[in-house]
This record gives sequence, C-alpha cells and structure tokens, in this order.
Amino acid sequence: MADRYLSFTGTTPGRFLTRRLGLPQPTALHRWSAEHPSFTGELLHLSAGKSPLDGPDGLAAVLGRTGLAVRARSERPVAVVLDATGVTDIDTLAEVHAALHAVVRSVARSGRVIVLGAPLDTADHHQAAVQQALEGFVRSLGKEIGRGITVTLLRLTDANAAESTLRFLLSPKSAYVSGQVIGIGGGAEVTAPADWALPLAGRTALVTGAARGIGEAVAATLARDGARVVCLDVPGAAVELDSVAGRLGGTALPLDITAPDAGARILAALPSEGLDVLVHNAGITRDRRLVNMAAERWSSVLDVNLASVLRTTDALLSAGGLATGGRIVATASIAGLAGNAGQTNYAASKAGVAGLVRALAPNAAAEHGVTVNAVAPGFIETKMTTAVPLFIREAGRRMNSLGQGGLPVDVAETTAWLAHPASGGVNGQVVRVCGQSLLGA
Ligand code: NAI
Repeated sequence: MADRYLSFTGTTPGRFLTRRLGLPQPTALHRWSAEHPSFTGELLHLSAGKSPLDGPDGLAAVLGRTGLAVRARSERPVAVVLDATGVTDIDTLAEVHAALHAVVRSVARSGRVIVLGAPLDTADHHQAAVQQALEGFVRSLGKEIGRGITVTLLRLTDANAAESTLRFLLSPKSAYVSGQVIGIGGGAEVTAPADWALPLAGRTALVTGAARGIGEAVAATLARDGARVVCLDVPGAAVELDSVAGRLGGTALPLDITAPDAGARILAALPSEGLDVLVHNAGITRDRRLVNMAAERWSSVLDVNLASVLRTTDALLSAGGLATGGRIVATASIAGLAGNAGQTNYAASKAGVAGLVRALAPNAAAEHGVTVNAVAPGFIETKMTTAVPLFIREAGRRMNSLGQGGLPVDVAETTAWLAHPASGGVNGQVVRVCGQSLLGA
C-alpha cells in the first residue's frame, strides 16, 4: 500500500500542516534509476587526526573514482566523507566535532555523511575508546540530521578494498541504509570488475523466494548488474515465478526450499561452473505469542527461515557448488536483532541467520574464497507488511530516522553490493536496511 503520508508531506499544504502540528516530515529519498544512476555534485573530503589512508593510491584516489567532484571545501556538498581513521585520543576525537559541526547543515537533501574509522582490534585502550566513540557519534547524528540524509561508519585499513562499499554508500543505491557500522577486511579476494556498471557480468546468481516481494527485486537488481539469474520459489507460485524469470532473461526453478533434497536439486539445475551468488531470501511468518504458538508454527518458520538455509548452504559448499569468489547473502530481519512480540519463532530464526553468517564467514573465505553476509531489513513495503494492522504499520513506517518504510529495491541494492566481486573484503557482516529503525537500535 502506498505511503500516502509521505506523499502528503511532500506538498506545500502538507509541509505547512505537519510542521504546525509537530508531526514527522519525511523526505522523499533519491533512489537509483537508469536516468539518475548516481549523485551529481561535490563530495567534501575532511579528516581528523593523521590518516593512515593518505598516500598517492589511497583514499583520495578511490573517492576520485566515485564520479563526484572531491573538494576540501564545499558550500553544498551532496556527501561528506570524514576520515577519522587517525583518531587516537580525546584531542583528535575533538577534530571530528570541529570538522562536522561546521558543515552538517549544508549537506544536500537525501545526501550522505560517511565517517571512516579504524578497526577496534587495538591494544591501546585510549585509541579503542575514541574509535568506539565514533559509533555513538554516528548513530546520534543519523537520528538528528534529518532531510533524508544517511550517516554511516565504515571501519577499514585499505581504501582500495573498500571501493565497492564507498561507491555503494556514495550512491542513491544506499538510500535506506543509515546508522550502520560496517567493517571491511579479513574477507576473500577483492576483484575489481571490468565494468563497474555491470559487475556481475558472466556470473550466475540464485535467489530463493524470487516470485514476489523483496526476492523479485533482488533478482531484478542482480540481473541489472549483469548476472544470469536462477529464480527459485515454491511450485505453488510457478506462474508468478515464470513471469519474473522470463522478464529477467533468467530461469525458473520451482522448488520448496524445505525439501530434504533441495540442495541436490539446486546443484542439478546449475551450470557446470556452479554458482557465484546465492541469496537466501525465502521467508515466512506464522505469528502468535508463545503461549498460543502450536509446535507446527514454530517448526514451519524455523524450517523455511533457518534450517533450509543451513542445509542448502552446507550442500552447496561441500559439493563445490559455489565458485571461488562466490558470495552468500542471507536475509535476516531487525526482528531477529531486537525481538518482537508475537514473533518468538520468526525472531529466533532470523537471529539464527545472523549467527550462521558470523560463524561461517571466516571459514568460507579461508576454505572456499566465498564471503557470507546478511541483510537485515526493517519495515519494507511488501505484501508481508501490507497485512500488518494499520496503526502498527504506521508506527513501523515512522519509527526510524528517515520517517518512512523502505522499498524492496533498498534491500536488493544492499544485496547487490554484498554480491559484488569487489566486495570480497566485506565478510561476516549483518547490515541493516532499516532507515535506522528505533527497534533494536
Ligand atoms: P513475501 O512473503 O512477499 O515473499 C517471500 C517469498 O518466499 C514468496 O514468494 C514465497 O512463496 C517464498 N517462499 C516461502 N516459503 C518458501 C519455500 N519453502 N521455498 C521456496 N520459496 C518460499 O516476503 P518479503 O516481504 O518479500 O520477504 C522476503 C524476505 O525478507 C523474508 O526472508 C522475510 O522474512 C525478510 N524480511 C522482510 C521484511 C519486510 O518488511 N517485508 C522485514 C524483514 C525481513
């Protein structure tokens, strides 16, 4: 169902009325489109402390390849990148305040503030304290900055390994990702694509639950990025599945992912080189408070959302079904991070997905050259959330820093970034696509 409130606040009387009544004033977000694929304008590059990322082939070179005009001063930047990797003590932390205090007001609507931090694995407790301080800083700025601007903290040691991530965060593709801390490093090989506009050219991607909703958007986005897509969904959805696969020039694989032989049937349907991208998106809800939850509601949700993810991942990895350089992206949920009344089964399954990702990521990278990450959507406008009662739906839409629900394409773009051949350094991450939801914040 369309977000009529967001449309209304975009009109002059709507803006006037909502301001007078002190109601939320969400900004219509700038998302990727073929006509407007990137931001245009200036990127303000600032730093605090002495950055280890400086140097001829360092951060400045990577930022220069984003297509934005990199400046040390800007009246109206569309994005600000503050390099705080050199923040080691209270004095250099104060430079973060000094640098951003002066410019936050001037960032364009639906723009970006990205703070770069160092990894936390330091024995220097002063440095660890001020680097951790950046998380509280970023999350607070995300909540107060408004105007559809997102704020993210990226921890890195090598700007080149972070190029796909910086390009994603500095583009309209990351419109609904805010308040997040993303770590780069310790993953698999980073491969720059021949063509950044078609990073998945020549690669095969399988998406479960692709007949509709988020899965359909993921399949479409991976196909846009050049992948051959195999679209999997239950046999009961075969008509919709055929139509999605046909539209994307992919193939349909009607299969219940909970079938005991699902892994073997997926392997049989793949090209001999195997799979490059595996997206575990299929998911169901069967909500009831625990006291009223029959065992079947528990087991069906755990089976689709977690057990089948474990089974098919194991089957594909052990049979060599994922090519070196492969990517696994699983769909968690903020309900799994924050918990939700009536969803003990669903939240358990989605928290389990996060556990699987964190534990498998280092081994999968070391043994197979494959990364494993999760996206954790917040409130996304789909059939699943249309079924939510009106007032709970409105609360879900507004209770985040961007004051609106996300779209399936927001989850799809985040998945496509994780699936990118140059995202080998992103591993074991659970990235929320939630507009910085207050739930589980
Ligand atoms: P949806 O209900 O619109 O689509 C889910 C798809 O998965 C359907 O096409 C369904 O047929 C398929 N599916 C279900 N069981 C299957 C099985 N056993 N085998 C194969 N396919 C199966 O749901 P939506 O909203 O697109 O959600 C997609 C994923 O995102 C799910 O994992 C969901 O839990 C997760 N999610 C969604 C959020 C939202 O706000 N919509 C929020 C957080 C997470």
